[in-house]
Amino acid sequence: MSDSRVPRPRRFLVCEPRHFAVQYAINPWMHPDKPVDVDLAQEQWQALIRAYRAHGHTVDSVEPVPGLPDMVFAANAAFVVGGRVFGSLFHAPERRPESVHYDTWFKAAGYDVYRPESVTEGEGDLVWTGRYVLAGTGFRTTREAHREAQEFLGHPVIGLTLVDPYFYHLDTALFVLDDDNICYYPEAFSPGSREVLKRLYPDAVLATREDAMAFGLNSVSDGRHVFIAPKAEALAERLADHGYVPVPVDLSEFHKAGGGIKCCTQEIR
Ligand code: ARG
Repeated sequence: MSDSRVPRPRRFLVCEPRHFAVQYAINPWMHPDKPVDVDLAQEQWQALIRAYRAHGHTVDSVEPVPGLPDMVFAANAAFVVGGRVFGSLFHAPERRPESVHYDTWFKAAGYDVYRPESVTEGEGDLVWTGRYVLAGTGFRTTREAHREAQEFLGHPVIGLTLVDPYFYHLDTALFVLDDDNICYYPEAFSPGSREVLKRLYPDAVLATREDAMAFGLNSVSDGRHVFIAPKAEALAERLADHGYVPVPVDLSEFHKAGGGIKCCTQEIR
């Protein structure tokens, strides 16, 4: 069965963790009094980039800016489908200045950037499934931003309500495996949203709270390989049973900021 899963090469946008730190607390994972090992963070991040390249993916990077310690979380800076760039408007004032640097990169790369009027945090809350957008709300991205995204992108946007502060972004509770299936942690969602997910993906791979707390849902799949946190062991096994090939990459230093593999990765489609 595992031979039936076909990878599709991706183009990723990342930002080196040169200035990574936990200096403020805007989610329950962040404790500014606990130190971050920046050298270890750099090594872990480089290993992620190597893993992407080794599996045939293209990686572009934005130059990191001093004083913006969360800029490494490239996923939050925009949401791109079919070359349309839906920019971000961060919830936290500390992160708002990141947008201009990413926008500059997109403009230099030849893209127009749409500037949203409502709070929206890129691929943190907007997830492309291949046919429509799954959009999280509850902690960061607003309902109004979902409407703006649908209007700008011309793709259906399906709103999902997040209810657990540990899973404050949709990409901490759900990821897309391929054009047909997703993987998620049901308890991170409101009852109605859970029902929606069940209707859309009756055969989804479900994760436990343990998997989710290990950042197992903050994974990146190319349709065959799933770049996943090594501590999400049970989930990796379940994915292997479904024919996917888990590629463990440890970003433990980034968990201290509430981020993992997917948070560090934006996909340009
Ligand atoms: N410290 C960052 C924040 O709270 C982490 C962002 C993680 N990114 C993500 N795509 N979930 O905004």
